[in-house]
Amino acid sequence: MLSTPIVKDLDIDKVYEPAEDTFLFLDMFEQLHEEQYFTNLNSNSTANFVLEIGSGSGLITTFIAEHNIIPRSYNLVSDINIVALRTTLNTFNDNTENTNCDALRCNLADSIRLNQINYLLFNPPYVPSEEIPSIPDADDISNTAWVDLALVGGNDGMLITNNLLNSLNNILAINGEAYILFCARNKHPQVVEKFKSKWTNFQVNCVIQRKCGWEELAIYRFKKMS
Ligand SMILES: C[S@@+](CC[C@H](N)C(=O)[O-])C[C@H]1O[C@@H](n2cnc3c(N)ncnc32)[C@H](O)[C@@H]1O
Repeated sequence: MLSTPIVKDLDIDKVYEPAEDTFLFLDMFEQLHEEQYFTNLNSNSTANFVLEIGSGSGLITTFIAEHNIIPRSYNLVSDINIVALRTTLNTFNDNTENTNCDALRCNLADSIRLNQINYLLFNPPYVPSEEIPSIPDADDISNTAWVDLALVGGNDGMLITNNLLNSLNNILAINGEAYILFCARNKHPQVVEKFKSKWTNFQVNCVIQRKCGWEELAIYRFKKMS
């Protein structure tokens, strides 16, 4: 079993505390690593740009880098929350010898050049809510909205994820893959059917699914074929 990175000095009033959804990502990557999924796919590739959107504590990106799960990776993380980005970089530096990690404060992948990302990961704010708080100023770190912004996703919990799905074709390189988490209340089977009928150049499949208490979580792979 691969070790879990240590997250020091996590301020849970400002940054999302790793939970069942985070650990589902770690379990999925461990499983794919055991199957040598990424090494088989990347025998000829020179470098892989890996982008985690909404990196929070940095546990997922650090786990992948620490255990060299994606070969020749260059790691990028984005978050709207500046404290989360600082925590991510600390977690990364505390746990890995790898120096390839850059942090961007931006919405989703808005600051990234088009069609460059080989692997994208997103554990989004997915809890259904009547509204999503507006994003505070970057330096307003004591604002209580940051924790809500990590959790709530508006109607069906899908507002933020839908924004990403609508721009996925522009973010991913050809053969690029996005791993995105959904809960049952996001109605993911319908979301996936709608996505597939619009984006016929993508293959989509569920990689891992788990019941976590009353919640049911699933991570889908969206692969851009052309
Ligand atoms: C559910 S938390 C996941 C945190 C971490 N990846 C994990 O799995 O533990 C969602 C993260 O997305 C960030 N976030 C929310 N909306 C975002 C947006 N529009 N663009 C980038 N990051 C966003 C939040 O600040 C938070 O860190």
